[in-house]
Amino acid sequence: MNPSTDTTDRRSFLKTGSLITAASILPGLARAQEGSSEIRVALIGCGGRGTGAASQSLNVPGTRLVAMADAFEDNVEKAYATLSGNKQFGDRVDVPKERRFFGFDAYKKAIDSADLVLLCTPPGFRPPHFEYAVEKGKHVFMEKPVAVDGPGIRKVIEAAKAADAKKLKVVCGLQRHYQNSYLETLEKIKEGMIGEISSTQVYWSGGGVWTRERSEGMTEMEYQMRNWYYFNWICGDHITEQHIHNLDVSNWFMGAHPAKANGIGGRTKRIGKDWGEIYDHHYVEYTYPDGTIMNSQCKHWNGTWSKVSETIVGTKGTATPGVIKDRTGKIIWRFRGPDNNPYQTEHDVLVQHIREDKPINDAFFTADSTLTAIMGRMATYSGKEVTWEQALNSDLDTMPPVLAWDADPGPKPGPDGLYPAPIPGVTKVM
Ligand SMILES: NC(=O)c1ccc[n+]([C@@H]2O[C@H](COP(=O)([O-])OP(=O)(O)OC[C@H]3O[C@@H](n4cnc5c(N)ncnc54)[C@H](O)[C@@H]3O)[C@@H](O)[C@H]2O)c1
Repeated sequence: MNPSTDTTDRRSFLKTGSLITAASILPGLARAQEGSSEIRVALIGCGGRGTGAASQSLNVPGTRLVAMADAFEDNVEKAYATLSGNKQFGDRVDVPKERRFFGFDAYKKAIDSADLVLLCTPPGFRPPHFEYAVEKGKHVFMEKPVAVDGPGIRKVIEAAKAADAKKLKVVCGLQRHYQNSYLETLEKIKEGMIGEISSTQVYWSGGGVWTRERSEGMTEMEYQMRNWYYFNWICGDHITEQHIHNLDVSNWFMGAHPAKANGIGGRTKRIGKDWGEIYDHHYVEYTYPDGTIMNSQCKHWNGTWSKVSETIVGTKGTATPGVIKDRTGKIIWRFRGPDNNPYQTEHDVLVQHIREDKPINDAFFTADSTLTAIMGRMATYSGKEVTWEQALNSDLDTMPPVLAWDADPGPKPGPDGLYPAPIPGVTKVM
């Protein structure tokens, strides 16, 4: 599905949607394991997820980690210590000091050194990094989200088209697409077990994530880069960074993206110097082109009701991942396994497709789901109805014009040390 051009036909998607089923992965993986040519891998963004993604890539036989890059030297070295300390990988962690890069341009040197690149920085940097990787002819694993604003999404879509033209393989970190319980639930929906989809409800309601404190001597740019979750030009707000997973499941199962959104949000609990400019809760009502409504809620409120899941309501029943109930609430189907680790499967699948030169490109649907989240954020920040076209064609580029440690990142704290949060009806959001 191409996010910029598709004419969302839910029924034909449900019939023909190109799913990678668990059954189709395993024989291919066995063949991939027999493949002899080594795949040189570079990691860009050496934090928690990047270290995990590099491990999962190294778990696939025939890969070699040859370069690493991060904005910060200490983060590259920490990830290198973890990966090189894992005896299981042996000399396949082959990243001498001269191939461990740091700084804002470090990604270019790492990408240049590899066949396959793992793009695992925060999402604000994904568009330029993906664009550069494709320009250099590299296969890509990239984490979700793939952008934080309309200009970023448009760059990703153009790069995704170029990747197809160059027959590059692209897998993205919306790992539910590689998770057996989700794949089988979708199969049951396609078979008609819940009837026609009449609405969806998606949730990432939890307690929130880490903060990283300002320390003595940090420039404003360094502070925002370290505490990136709370600045929109790097993170896109938690509706984008985290809730994308659930919005994506609704889009995937609907075979469509919403046409418009309206919503409410704000911050009531996480107000303080370390929580930057983002909201701590959003409620968004999305409308798909056929009128189906998706109710979405996400919050970072510790000590309150929590739920991270998706519910697909149909005319004959209701599906949640791995469970289908009829209209009376009786369970009529349950996923019986086998369970898989989707974080591993996505790397198995990517290498399999590289070795067999089979097309795979997740960037389009990941751009679609990222833009769904961005559209929701625009709706809650503005208090206005926002259409898909408005979000996609927005010219508000949030990336600072200069990336340097002494440059101005944009957001500024007030005299009380607090960063202003968007005010509906006042703040320009697109
Ligand atoms: N699929 C999933 O379930 C999942 C889970 C966690 C994180 N993620 C995604 O992975 C990405 C990274 O998250 P994380 O938890 O690893 O964060 P993190 O803070 O642990 O790591 C991010 C790293 O990127 C580095 N970085 C930032 N800007 C950079 C730049 N311009 N060039 C090079 N390096 C840069 C940071 O210094 C840091 O080391 C995010 O997009 C996040 O949404 C996905």
